[in-house]
Amino acid sequence: MTTDATELTGTQLLRERHQEIKRLFKETLEATGQERAEVFDCLRATLAAHEVVEEMFVHPLAKDLGPDGERIAQARLDEEAEATRVLSDLEDLGSDGDQFGPRLLAFQRAVVEHAEAEENELFPLLETSCSRADLEALADSIIVGEQLSPTHAHPHSSQNAVALMLTGPFVAMVDKARDHFKQLRAD
Ligand SMILES: [Fe+2]
Ligand SMILES: [Fe+2]
Repeated sequence: MTTDATELTGTQLLRERHQEIKRLFKETLEATGQERAEVFDCLRATLAAHEVVEEMFVHPLAKDLGPDGERIAQARLDEEAEATRVLSDLEDLGSDGDQFGPRLLAFQRAVVEHAEAEENELFPLLETSCSRADLEALADSIIVGEQLSPTHAHPHSSQNAVALMLTGPFVAMVDKARDHFKQLRAD
C-alpha cells in the first residue's frame, strides 16, 4: 500500500485529529447562537468519524497484541461508549440551552483525558509493537475510512445529501458510519 500522500504513521495522524477535535471544542464553547449550533454539528461529525475509524482500525490492532493491548483497547472503547451517552444528553439539551456550556466544558475535559490516555498508552504500544510499514498502512486505512465515512463532510459547508445525513443524533451518525464500513468490508 502506498504512503506517498501522507508519509505519516497512523498514530501521528490520530494525534493531529485530536488537535482538530480540541480546536472544535474551543470554537463551540466560544461561539453563540446559530454559529454555536453549526460548529457543534461539525464537532459531532468529526468525533463520530474519529470514533468509528478508531473502532474499525485501531482497537482491533491493539487487541491483537495480547492481554495488555486488549485491556488498553477495551478501556478506551468503554470511554468512547460513555462519550456517546454524554453527547446524546448534550444534543437533548440543545446548543442554546443554559446548561449546554458547562456540560460541554465537562465533556471536553473527558474527551481530552481520553485522547491523552490514547496518546500516552495506546499509541506508544502500537508504535513499539508494530512495524513502520504497518503504522503507515494504518494511516492509509484511517484516511480512506474518514473519506468513506458518511460523517466526513463538513455539515455546514454543503447542502447535499451527505449534509442531510448529518442532521440526526450522534448515535445515529456513528451507527450509520459503522454500518457503512461493515457493508464495505462485506462487499
Ligand atoms: Fe478514541
Ligand atoms: Fe482518538
